[in-house]
Amino acid sequence: MDSIFSATSTLFISFTLGCIFSGVAGATFNIINKCDYTVWPGTLGNTQLDSTGFELPSGGSRSLQAPPNWSGRFWGRTGCTSDPTTGQLTCLTGDCRSNQLECNGNAASPPATLAEFTIGSGTQDFYDVSLVDGYNLPMIVEPSGGSGTCQPTGCVNDLNRMCPKELRVGSGDACKSACDAFGNPEYCCSGAYGSPATCKPSMYSEIFKSACPRSYSYAYDDATSTFTCTGADYTITFCPSSTSQKSSSSTPPETTSTTNESGGSATASTEEPSGAMSSWLTDYVFAGSSRTLSGSVLYTTLLSSLISHLFLSACYS
Ligand SMILES: *[C@@H]1O[C@H](CO)[C@@H](O)[C@H](O)[C@H]1NC(C)=O
Ligand SMILES: *[C@@H]1O[C@H](CO)[C@@H](O)[C@H](O)[C@H]1NC(C)=O
Repeated sequence: MDSIFSATSTLFISFTLGCIFSGVAGATFNIINKCDYTVWPGTLGNTQLDSTGFELPSGGSRSLQAPPNWSGRFWGRTGCTSDPTTGQLTCLTGDCRSNQLECNGNAASPPATLAEFTIGSGTQDFYDVSLVDGYNLPMIVEPSGGSGTCQPTGCVNDLNRMCPKELRVGSGDACKSACDAFGNPEYCCSGAYGSPATCKPSMYSEIFKSACPRSYSYAYDDATSTFTCTGADYTITFCPSSTSQKSSSSTPPETTSTTNESGGSATASTEEPSGAMSSWLTDYVFAGSSRTLSGSVLYTTLLSSLISHLFLSACYS
């Protein structure tokens, strides 16, 4: 009875391990629309996900799986309508000019709030929410189940309402970046301003930064805007609720400024390399065999480790 119980729990743990490892083998993105309007998310990356664009009604959610080493972005298209005769889809903001639901490798037309990711392969992920291409809707990114600093980021505030007149699109549908609106090298961090030392925050980027302290407000805003986490899944929420708002906006900028690139690297160096995975599994089997004396339990332990391995292989394929 006791050995059946431990055999069963061993099996259960193995499957749980399999799930944890599946997180290491890429990332699951859960995209949630808490806006009171429909959003048409778009994705663009080094490889295409299951969808490159879809419709997400208010209150809807959808999951997408990204492989290890995936690098790409998510954004929300708003105000999309299909032409009654041609059926072509066009959107008021974030349009990807594919004329359809799927973006098929096309990027968002600025201005658009972007959630950017570089998923590791047993190594840390990098993520940020960028307003470098302007802003169209509130969006936050929340990691779950990872190790490291793993802080939420994004922009909870409705920057459309705070947008300076000269950057405003339409009747406050979106807010352009100063680079996009004026094209000056000092706003675009180009030419003589093409380095972190020469490109400084502008009056405009500072408006973005004060509304959205954790988001990129200009090209070299790395210190307070890039975040890291290892082996996480990510929830991307459009128009986050008041509870998400709290966790994300109540943290003062002082706290976020400690999470800079060097902080992230320091965390990375103390984390387990991907090679540790199999030795950890060995430790687990070893611990399991010394803890349980029954031969059948040891057999089950080994069997379930084998199942873990098979599960893992399935996760990687
Ligand atoms: C991810 O990229 C690293 C570095 O280029 C490489 O060593 C590794 O094999 C890649 N992993 C996968 C699963 O493609
Ligand atoms: C980054 O963080 C480290 C310690 O966490 C600190 O010593 C360093 O000055 C910070 N750098 C910047 C650019 O904020």
